[in-house]
Amino acid sequence: MSQPFCALVVDDEDLYAQAIGREIGRQGISCDLAYTCREALEFAARRQYGVILLDHRLPDDDGIRIIPQLLTQQPDAALVMMTAYQTIPNAVRAIRHGAEDYIVKEASVAPILERVLELRRRAQLRDEARGAAEAKCQGLLGRSSAMRLVVDELSKVAASKDTTLLLTGETGVGKEVACRLVHSLSRPAGSPLVVVDCLALPENLAESLLFGHERGAFTGAQDSHTGAFEEARDGTVFLDEIGDMERGQGKLLRVLESRSFRRLGSNRDIPLRARVVAATNQDLSALVEAGRFRQDLFQRLAVFPIHIPPLRERGDDILLLAEHFRTLYSERLSKPTEPFAAEVSAVLLGYAYPGNVRELKNIIERAVILTESSRIELRHLPQRVLSLGNRGSLPPTRPLEVVPGVDSLVDVEVRMIRQAMTRAHNVRTEAARLLGISRYQLLRRMQKFGMKMETEKRPDKHS
Ligand SMILES: Nc1ncnc2c1ncn2[C@@H]1O[C@H](COP(=O)(O)OP(=O)(O)OP(=O)(O)O)[C@@H](O)[C@H]1O
Ligand SMILES: [Mg+2]
Repeated sequence: MSQPFCALVVDDEDLYAQAIGREIGRQGISCDLAYTCREALEFAARRQYGVILLDHRLPDDDGIRIIPQLLTQQPDAALVMMTAYQTIPNAVRAIRHGAEDYIVKEASVAPILERVLELRRRAQLRDEARGAAEAKCQGLLGRSSAMRLVVDELSKVAASKDTTLLLTGETGVGKEVACRLVHSLSRPAGSPLVVVDCLALPENLAESLLFGHERGAFTGAQDSHTGAFEEARDGTVFLDEIGDMERGQGKLLRVLESRSFRRLGSNRDIPLRARVVAATNQDLSALVEAGRFRQDLFQRLAVFPIHIPPLRERGDDILLLAEHFRTLYSERLSKPTEPFAAEVSAVLLGYAYPGNVRELKNIIERAVILTESSRIELRHLPQRVLSLGNRGSLPPTRPLEVVPGVDSLVDVEVRMIRQAMTRAHNVRTEAARLLGISRYQLLRRMQKFGMKMETEKRPDKHS
């Protein structure tokens, strides 16, 4: 995980150093002050910085001379040289020693602060790209706490050899991607992943397609046939849309319990070596109640259930995925495009995505096709995404009423944040989830509206 962005200011003029430190601190960046080269090296040995602002003339040494040593300890830091004397030879020396930039000290600290903020933005983008690359190799993109939890649970299942897994979640959330991840993490390289769409299983052939049959096992069985469970060998059988399996539930239960199966018309037991992963976007317990799904099979499958949350509950993952798909389709269609402008990102973040990641993927593909230039604009998004109240598909708790002259949009936001914080017992991550925004966005809004930050009660785990 990426470290928080911190700053180190190295300057012997203590009032100046303190002024910079104060301004940086106001931006929520933790800042250390060192007054000598020795102190700077001591700080650098203890903690990683995103930026180091280094004065040229220090009491115990020339600042430029310690740059290589500082940077060896601080591989991710951007080092910016500060000096009161702007001379080209010094700038060249500093940069030769590894400094990123050179800034002239002035009475105002504003230009320095601006540079620090720019470096923080760059570090955030770099961290995001690293995170995206990490997740991409696993195929399941996402940095939200909700998705981290899912990946964590999937890895736990992967660590156990044969545990049956039940994946639940709305359509398009990535259940199949999750199954592939568990498969790739836990089965021998090259072993098969056999996908069975239970909805498409013809009733009279269901058992044969799952477990195979011998020649003559039933009228018309002219040859023997290998079923999905046998084909999967030591790989994975993915039973998609398990809620729609009508025939074969009882047999599937026996197979899972005995970890062996028989082809139809055979009395030879074949050991089950594959892992079984089932998925559904239906509420299986409701199907059990309605008498459409066997209770015992449900219990057997639900030994390890993992719920994949809808996209609208994943905060900034929406933008991470949108950027990922933009790059993907730009490459595929050989149409280079720029990152989304703020107004497009805001609209993408506000939509409820009933079709989840699949829908987002289609929206971005369409936008890349539609744009005539390298810019994706609002008009390239479908009408449903642009319409006001596009979160309407979420169940409303209470109708929102605007009282003229009493309520401003800010009042409404402040009220909603308060309500969410109360409901979440001051756990900001949870409040942010309730509001459908990221924790960072929540903190920014609370700061903006001057709302008091109560001490946060952290949940026991996964905070
Ligand atoms: N976290 C993710 N990162 C990248 N791509 C994703 C992610 N989640 C889903 N996708 C993509 O979204 C699409 C839908 O995913 P998937 O088929 O796994 O959904 P599903 O939950 O199985 O949906 P359904 O219930 O409709 O079968 C796929 O193209 C998949 O590659
Ligand atoms: Mg699927």
